[in-house]
Amino acid sequence: MLTSNPASPQTAKDPLKSRGFFITLEGIDGTGKSTQFRRLVRHLRKRGYAVRATREPGGTAVGEKVRAILMSEKEELTALAELALFYAARAQHVETVIRPALESGELVVSDRFNDCSFVYQGHARGLGRRTVKLLDRAICGPTQPDLTLVLDLDPRLALERALGRDARSGTSRFEAAGLEFQRRARAGYLALARREPRRVRVIEAGRPPREVEADIADVVDEVLRESRKPKARMDRSGAKST
Ligand code: TYD
Repeated sequence: MLTSNPASPQTAKDPLKSRGFFITLEGIDGTGKSTQFRRLVRHLRKRGYAVRATREPGGTAVGEKVRAILMSEKEELTALAELALFYAARAQHVETVIRPALESGELVVSDRFNDCSFVYQGHARGLGRRTVKLLDRAICGPTQPDLTLVLDLDPRLALERALGRDARSGTSRFEAAGLEFQRRARAGYLALARREPRRVRVIEAGRPPREVEADIADVVDEVLRESRKPKARMDRSGAKST
């Protein structure tokens, strides 16, 4: 996971070195997530980690094409077709980018990943957790985030931000889904954090960006420090395993 940076906080005996570490950033639209993502990546690189920064939907050439379909307002996709497309892009992403990077010991940071499907398609669009889980088992399997940061913000404020930002480029079909949809998505993320409190950390995003950035850096630094202790590895259920 490390470059040869002498200021690196980890040593050659680091137990994580052979299996990497996977961090994801999540949140409803308009929480400032993409800005915080860039800042987190910069922070981790300064600390000496070899960071693979990626995003969903996207992350591969095929994934970016799928993203274009998903983001197009004109497409009339059913909820299941949408879910299947997200997972088609994710299959490519996991197999060709995320898994190899983790296997070579890198620190993978993704702007959105599978929790987004559980929350948006499973919860907010009503497909249900079991349907998403079926695809997730087959496609992500054991490649699951070690740490997930959920940027949390009142959906009214978040939607105003998102619509303001998109006024130039045209509103995406997701943001056009409206306040009620964003409310359901927020509730989905908060429920996820209650279910898996060790892995999923909620960051209050209604504060000045610098404060949010500092909070994120503190949480990530602490979790990475903990994860170097052999017994501190977390699985999706929030239970510890080695
Ligand atoms: P994007 O422009 O990346 O939004 P943001 O910058 O706010 O992350 O658009 C991603 C949209 O796709 C966002 O509204 C969430 C949605 N999405 C899903 O509905 N399911 C998924 O599995 C993923 C990865 C994204």
